[in-house]
Amino acid sequence: MKPAIHTYELIASEFDWQIADGRTIKAWGFNNMVPGPSITAKKGDTVVVKVTNNLRESTVIHWHGIRLASNMDGTDDVQSPIRPGEAFEYRFEVPDAGTFWYHSHENETAQMERGMYGALIVEDQSDPTVDNERVLMIDDMKLSGSNEFRTGNALQRWMERHDGREGETLLINGKVNPLISMRAGQVERWRFINASSARYFRLYLGDIPFRIMAADGGLIEQLEAAKELLIVPGERYDILVGPFTERQRFTIDSLPYDRMTFVKPGHRHFATVEVGAEAPSQASLPSKLRDIKALAPQDAAVTRKVKLSVDPSLKRIIDFRVNGALHAMDKPVYVGELQVWEVSNTSLMDHPFHLHGFFFQVLEVNGKAPAYRAWKDIVNLAPRSKVKIAWMPDNRPGKWMYHCHILEHHEAGMMAHFEIIDSAKGANDAPSHKPHHHHHGHR
Ligand code: C2O
Ligand code: CU
Repeated sequence: MKPAIHTYELIASEFDWQIADGRTIKAWGFNNMVPGPSITAKKGDTVVVKVTNNLRESTVIHWHGIRLASNMDGTDDVQSPIRPGEAFEYRFEVPDAGTFWYHSHENETAQMERGMYGALIVEDQSDPTVDNERVLMIDDMKLSGSNEFRTGNALQRWMERHDGREGETLLINGKVNPLISMRAGQVERWRFINASSARYFRLYLGDIPFRIMAADGGLIEQLEAAKELLIVPGERYDILVGPFTERQRFTIDSLPYDRMTFVKPGHRHFATVEVGAEAPSQASLPSKLRDIKALAPQDAAVTRKVKLSVDPSLKRIIDFRVNGALHAMDKPVYVGELQVWEVSNTSLMDHPFHLHGFFFQVLEVNGKAPAYRAWKDIVNLAPRSKVKIAWMPDNRPGKWMYHCHILEHHEAGMMAHFEIIDSAKGANDAPSHKPHHHHHGHR
């Protein structure tokens, strides 16, 4: 099949958005909806998105998880912000099937909190056949009794900066406790995207087993049975649910996850599922979903260390740092040189580490191999933990970054910029005889 070009128009503005009966907020988002329109394409297609900014402040849009060219990554490093009244056209190929998303990458703690995000779904013939699919975007909002975005006093703001912003208004696809109706006897693919600023969503269907089928970068190798699943900010997981029986009813919940914050976690209820009349199932689920070749052995030598820390600070009491610096500048990486990074978290709280533009494989967590192999662009770092990841800088030189996906920590400085250099082009600081391999996608 010939690759198609999909053209979308996203208009960012402020609008009234109803999150529940009688509850309307002043949202910021795209095309007057939260989440914004879902962008869908097939693997190998081209997506063109014209973003028009009708907000009163600048924005840029990041295409989270897409392996695109650096100049389309939608950060301040690679483009000038889209100012009020201006537009910018993004154009990129979508080389991988999976569950991705787009979101504001400017003043995120306000823009994303108010709704500037949407799903980007890439399909492929290799996707197993299911009876139905849903995208479930998880979010929470911190609202006052009159449904205003609440800021609080200086101490509360300080705590919010420390913890990341969590609110008690829990949303799935922009709605409070939506009702999800499905048919008995059917198997559905649910694509979860955690779009919240800081909430650790620990998926739980009231003890009903489900099967994990995909992570950030698409299908995993085989279905993994589970009854709960941690989905941290920015992360995606696709699960298979069903078949259920007629009149079965359950809730989509989040179990408490203690990430060592001031605000203590609890069991939360996000949506209700109701099972209707039986329908025949077309689902066919192969035992092998995909082959994922190991990028490196578990004991591969570390090529770089990245340290996330929370340190005392004279000016702000605490600082959120990468390798001891705020908004750090990390060393360049060369095209074709396998990266094995040891990411450590010396702090006493969790941080979801996110790498832009590339998928990595987790080789080990605190010295142990993970339960199964997956392509990831986010990995959670528990307090005082170490994760070893491997990734291959394919031929997309330019400016990239990595950061904590708790938006308040990212804003406070827990991030680093770095460059990918095509050594074959003889960049100034490139050693003369760097090996250079051509990677036509390493998947
Ligand atoms: Cu979804 Cu820079 O992040
Ligand atoms: Cu963090």
